[in-house]
Amino acid sequence: MIQAVILLGAPGAGKGTLAEGLKRSADFIHVSTGDMLREQVKAGRPLGLRAKAYMDQGELVPDDLIMQIIAERLDGGPAAARYLFDGFPRTTEQARGLDALLAARHGGIRKVFLLEASRATLVARLAGRRVCQQCAAVYHLRNIPPRQADVCDQCGGPLRQRPDDTEATVLNRLEVFRQQTEGLIAYYAARGLLARIDAGQQRDQALADIINLLPVATPP
Ligand code: AP5
Repeated sequence: MIQAVILLGAPGAGKGTLAEGLKRSADFIHVSTGDMLREQVKAGRPLGLRAKAYMDQGELVPDDLIMQIIAERLDGGPAAARYLFDGFPRTTEQARGLDALLAARHGGIRKVFLLEASRATLVARLAGRRVCQQCAAVYHLRNIPPRQADVCDQCGGPLRQRPDDTEATVLNRLEVFRQQTEGLIAYYAARGLLARIDAGQQRDQALADIINLLPVATPP
């Protein structure tokens, strides 16, 4: 049986950063649609080429492409596991699609964490974000700096700004979140699944708040 936990939040709220921390404290399969799409782009696959135009503009990739990569990911993974979804679902259409995929696998959603931070915090985090070109580890110039400037602590790879972290694209991504993703909050709150987390606080405190509210894993 698949038990799903979802990290929902605006660009820069810390979904990827907190997912890394959660994986260290619990046995999760981490599924980030953003990372999966960037891998498809890097590999020059047809799906990646279609997605890239949307990503470069800060627009959402069409639901059918997203549901395709999620279905393939679930089909290729274990039948009984805890999945941590980061950046998915992002529309109510995707949320309904996930419900159907989980129902077909006798699974369900255990918790949805809504990561909340002020707009000023989100913008500052995205402007200062640097990502390793080799292993995709995420840093922040001021908040979570690497030991040596522009070099990844974990693998020694070069750190760069993400192409969609330019000012104009960031502002569009925040607006797209407001318009298209905020509807999900009501969708999950109505089902009693939503927990609000202050994601503007220090990373370790936000992580501890999530771990405190994490449902105990049900044996397979
Ligand atoms: P995606 O990669 O999912 O990007 P996003 O949602 O815009 O979120 P980010 O990755 O920018 O932020 P995050 O919340 O993970 O923050 P992070 O931990 O890095 O999607 C990219 C694009 O792909 C989308 O625009 C869309 O085109 C497409 N896409 C993806 N999924 C899709 C879907 N389901 N449907 C349709 N399209 C989809 O942190 C940010 C920075 O802050 C880092 O520098 C970090 O070090 C720092 N930081 C984090 N937490 C803290 C903290 N507590 N204190 C201090 N600093 C912190």
